[in-house]
Amino acid sequence: MTTFQRNSPLLKPFILPCGSKLNNRIAKAAMTERLAGKNYFSNKNLCNLYGKWSDSGAGLLISGNIMVDKKHKESSGNIVIEDESGLNQLTKLTKEATRNGNHFWAQISHPGRQATIFSTLNPIAPSAIKLKKLMLFAKPKAMTSLEIQDVIDRYVTTSVICKKAGFTGIQIHAAHGYLISQFLSPNTNKRDDNYGGSIENRSRILMEIITKTREQVGPNFPISVKLNSADFQRGGFNEEDAFYVIDQLEKSKIDLLEISGGTYENIVFLTKRSEKNSTRKREAFFMEFAERVRIKTNIPLMVTGGFRTLDFCEKVIENNELEVIGFARPFLLDESFPSSFINKIGSKIEDASFNFPIKKIEDMAEGGFYDYQIHRISKNKKIKKSYSPYLAVLRLTVSEIYKGWFR
Ligand SMILES: Cc1cc2nc3c(=O)[nH]c(=O)nc-3n(C[C@H](O)[C@H](O)[C@H](O)COP(=O)(O)O)c2cc1C
Repeated sequence: MTTFQRNSPLLKPFILPCGSKLNNRIAKAAMTERLAGKNYFSNKNLCNLYGKWSDSGAGLLISGNIMVDKKHKESSGNIVIEDESGLNQLTKLTKEATRNGNHFWAQISHPGRQATIFSTLNPIAPSAIKLKKLMLFAKPKAMTSLEIQDVIDRYVTTSVICKKAGFTGIQIHAAHGYLISQFLSPNTNKRDDNYGGSIENRSRILMEIITKTREQVGPNFPISVKLNSADFQRGGFNEEDAFYVIDQLEKSKIDLLEISGGTYENIVFLTKRSEKNSTRKREAFFMEFAERVRIKTNIPLMVTGGFRTLDFCEKVIENNELEVIGFARPFLLDESFPSSFINKIGSKIEDASFNFPIKKIEDMAEGGFYDYQIHRISKNKKIKKSYSPYLAVLRLTVSEIYKGWFR
């Protein structure tokens, strides 16, 4: 287990509304691992990866996308939990991931239309509107009312199994353009039933999932939601919608709200491209929105995206602007993060930089680079910052095709 050598505000414990204690304010945010085995079960590599991240000293680890339905996956390498058939493997995973007394939450998700043809040929979505990106996505079928109820039940079933397997909490993924986020957005939700139209209707699926899950997991089990501040697309989910949803989430007594933003069509959660560095007031991507949320809600807040200097992170916690800070890529740039970061006053994390001429697949190059680092850590190999973005695109594509079509 890592020892921290400074008395940083980031190391203060925090008690969640449900009564559970986070040992400190540092969270490893969700990063899809694409490591699951043949039956979409957990395995040795995942245990190894999360054992190491538990040793890192972070108070909270959030898993990558865990899917509720084998037929609908964000990646061919996702863990899928539909029933208890993979319970033994999951229990081994949670044991390793919590071996230092930290929390380990399952991020529960359904991709809807945002699943490539490598993992899902017949996607479903609120409405039959295709994702326009690189011709990698099939046109989805609009969900029937029965299919909506089935998805809600699946979220609840997966959450209950996660609790049984030893996860210490769950996070409902309602951001980044996946299924729930598609319901929230007027661009992708054109339904004229109870699940479309007003923001009350568009957020109904999320609220039903939370209410039914809470009934099953009880009052003492942490439930978190990852929500977009906005989709950053004209006519999409916007700040006003987000404020309505946050108000409903407060009434439903969630334990932690993680703020992010964007979808595959505009991946601001990785780059915040819509806002130039020179005009951005604060280093982290969604802090200005978080300031406005802070005034409106008492839900504990976590923001993920762009936190890179210790000074800024410490001020944000010291000034009570957030309860938890989420870090994703920093865990893939330095094996000894976060202790190396916290132990040195004035430290700054340098992102990997990509000089990739083909702009259209730059996202894939970046995703592929970080995916490769996850795979290396899971196999006890050192992070390799010199990895080529060309190879990254190739490796990721081949791996998705192989696992999706030939396994
Ligand atoms: C390789 C990789 C995989 C990711 N997978 C997920 C995921 O499964 N679920 C999710 O909510 N966010 C995912 N993200 C987004 C991160 O959680 C985070 O919001 C984003 O990387 C910004 O944080 P950072 O600047 O600290 O990296 C992923 C990011 C990366 C780099």
